[in-house]
Amino acid sequence: MFKLFIINVITVCKCLVLLSSILITASKQDTNINVLDLSAKYGHPATSHDVTTEDGYILQLFHIPVQTQQKRPVLLMHGMTDTADTWLVRGNGSLAITLANAGYDVWLGNCRGNRYARRHTYLDPDKDSSFWDFSFHDHGVYDLPAIIDKILELTGSKKIDAIGHSQGNTIFYVLGSSKPEYNAKVNLMIALAPVGYLHNIGSPLSDIFSIFPKLNKILKTLNVHELFNKKTLPGKILNVVCSSDIGYEMCVERFLFEITGFDPEEFGQDFFEIINTYFPSSTSRKNIDHFAQVYNRKSFAKYDYGYRNKAIYNAREPPQYNLGNVTMKIAFIVALNDKLTPLKDVNILRKQLPNLVNYTVSPRKTFNHISFVWGENMDEYLFPFIFDLLKTYN
Ligand SMILES: *[C@@H]1O[C@H](CO)[C@@H](O)[C@H](O)[C@H]1NC(C)=O
Ligand SMILES: *[C@@H]1O[C@H](CO)[C@@H](O)[C@H](O)[C@H]1NC(C)=O
Ligand SMILES: *[C@@H]1O[C@H](CO)[C@@H](O)[C@H](O)[C@H]1NC(C)=O
Repeated sequence: MFKLFIINVITVCKCLVLLSSILITASKQDTNINVLDLSAKYGHPATSHDVTTEDGYILQLFHIPVQTQQKRPVLLMHGMTDTADTWLVRGNGSLAITLANAGYDVWLGNCRGNRYARRHTYLDPDKDSSFWDFSFHDHGVYDLPAIIDKILELTGSKKIDAIGHSQGNTIFYVLGSSKPEYNAKVNLMIALAPVGYLHNIGSPLSDIFSIFPKLNKILKTLNVHELFNKKTLPGKILNVVCSSDIGYEMCVERFLFEITGFDPEEFGQDFFEIINTYFPSSTSRKNIDHFAQVYNRKSFAKYDYGYRNKAIYNAREPPQYNLGNVTMKIAFIVALNDKLTPLKDVNILRKQLPNLVNYTVSPRKTFNHISFVWGENMDEYLFPFIFDLLKTYN
């Protein structure tokens, strides 16, 4: 009996040692540390500022200051279910650190709902379902202008430059068309994987979007309004699967790459173990539903409330975003193997934006949707274009 007890104690100890060694190795690899730790680790300690939107959301805005600011502030906006971490997780090879090393004054925004923006002046994200009553529309109409104004206030600058990834671009088109006075506050917007129309996306995302209206109703009935929170049961299950031995195959090769395009060389299993601890982060069910509507309705329009459209918009159909009013300078950088942002869709968007100053297609054939932020060698395939654009349109 006693012997058995000892053996058990030894086993538990061994497990603890193993666990702690896993945790220590993990911390060596930058897993799950935040923007402030990451930026400090790579030589640019950042500061954090709270931005409160007109409708009460509190968003963390990170600043990587430079010693003597000569260049215009550059705002980086992450994509859907992502956070400001995305611009730093590649460490020295990431865009935020590369820009900071080159003397740019870097600002990293967060959209309502993600783990840096899950706060509100009076709504509780865990109790009030109305906290989650938002989509990319609200990111563009409330979050983005509040973030931009905060940067202009803190720097005294008249304009910012901006770089967005995926939904991080969509929200600029929403802003520029809904609040046209903000066009004057953006000098140049560099759109990495610009998302607007979703006519030509393929399976499985098209299938997910096709069934989403039904799924949305079920989730609503079940009182599920927040999606992709890592701390909820589905999030934990997903994490167990993706962290397992078959995690890379199941979560990346059979799912992530199917949606974003195959580019294993730029991604890799080691990096997956890191990014898996950061991504995804929460967004609302309504946001996914809004994107599903863009696909299903074949229209870049405001959220479709069905029979309530009449009361809300005084129209039967939701109004389209007037892209003709997006007069800020915009540069597109697109990828040939980006299944989420196929060139056909990019071309529809491109023709409707009145001030598109540059259109660059990366020469790398397998460049996909996520390589823009998570690729290993973006100093070779992407950053030179960005620096060129920032200099030319200075
Ligand atoms: C990042 O690069 C700098 C300069 O090249 C180097 O001094 C530093 O050690 C690197 N940091 C890490 C964590 O790799
Ligand atoms: C968009 O532009 C049109 C004219 O091009 C103008 O009539 C309309 O008021 C603008 N919309 C907004 C929201 O300013
Ligand atoms: C604009 O795009 C073209 C390719 O379409 C590229 O050759 C050119 O260098 C770009 N201009 C700037 C200023 O980056």
